[in-house]
Amino acid sequence: MIHADAIPFTPVKESRLSQVDMQHLEFGKYISDHMYYAHYDHGKWSDIAIRPFADLSLSPSILGLHYGQTVFEGMKAFRRPDGQITIFRMDKHYQRFLASLDRMCMPPVPEDLFYDGMSRLISIDAAWVPEADGSSLYIRPFMFASEARFGVKVAEEYLFIIFTGPVGPYYAKPLRVKVELDYVRAAKGGTGYAKCGGNYGGSYYPTQKAKEEGFDQVIWTDGRAHEFIEESGTMNLMFVIDGKVVTPPTSDSILDGVTRDSILTIAADLGYDAEVRPLSIEELENALKAGRLQEAFGAGTAAVVAPIAVINVHGHDYELPAWDDNAFMMKAKQKLTRMRMGFEPDVHDWNTIISPM
Ligand SMILES: Cc1ncc(COP(=O)(O)O)c(C=O)c1O
Repeated sequence: MIHADAIPFTPVKESRLSQVDMQHLEFGKYISDHMYYAHYDHGKWSDIAIRPFADLSLSPSILGLHYGQTVFEGMKAFRRPDGQITIFRMDKHYQRFLASLDRMCMPPVPEDLFYDGMSRLISIDAAWVPEADGSSLYIRPFMFASEARFGVKVAEEYLFIIFTGPVGPYYAKPLRVKVELDYVRAAKGGTGYAKCGGNYGGSYYPTQKAKEEGFDQVIWTDGRAHEFIEESGTMNLMFVIDGKVVTPPTSDSILDGVTRDSILTIAADLGYDAEVRPLSIEELENALKAGRLQEAFGAGTAAVVAPIAVINVHGHDYELPAWDDNAFMMKAKQKLTRMRMGFEPDVHDWNTIISPM
């Protein structure tokens, strides 16, 4: 049992915070002063500590680098106008982390190690949680096989680390996306539902090809017959068809997105009908042709909501109608922001409040 206050803590000699322009944060550029670190070896956790963020010294032979036992999460903490700091949906991220670890034959990270380590790290680096509207502290928990040897095998040693970094509002321009009919991101029975490194590495090639054709992202379709819509890049996909919110069910080839789940809950709060059901490319194309598809957007931690302006199906670009603040995606995004920032009651118990050190 680890208690947050008992985690050994070595502070940085000099904070790097003064080097950061908190008003102009670029996603992924800045990393906060400290990291949480834990070592696993043959069933035992040790070296648990919060220490200055720094390079690691590792053997080039560690198994994670070669055979891909790497798993991560992406979550966010927010600073409310009253100064309080909250972490969004810790439980759901933790459960997904466990599911990913299990799929990759990696040991579970105990609950207290995850929760207490993250809470303490963020309370220590509380000054790194930005205040500006729309900005947040991105939290990256991850684990990888650190056993040094070669030969394909399940590792016996791992490192679990959490670091964080301030990120600004994500002003993504409306996306041009292409329904992918040749390449596959994940197959039935594969690792698509796990947040493991290989899923991302494997998706770069088709995504690069789509970028060369002028698209921002691909819409992945099922690996068996390219018949049904799955997800996109680092986002789940949601649509509004005939006034109803439609999104594919999660499966072993789709990541169970926390934003998707939150937006489905908010759709019910806002009185929208939501249908979680398979959506075929044929239905999508027919709805686009008939002007029945009112909205399409990606849902994910980084962008929250990323509106889609153009969908290419079978080589044809379909333009989506213009939207305003009354669009479902904009209302859902606003409500989610208000719930996180404490402007609306936390009726779904999504926010964990952190006390600064
Ligand atoms: C492949 C993939 N799908 C969907 C998502 C959206 O999930 P979440 O809303 O939990 O960030 C992500 C981002 O984490 C992702 O990497």
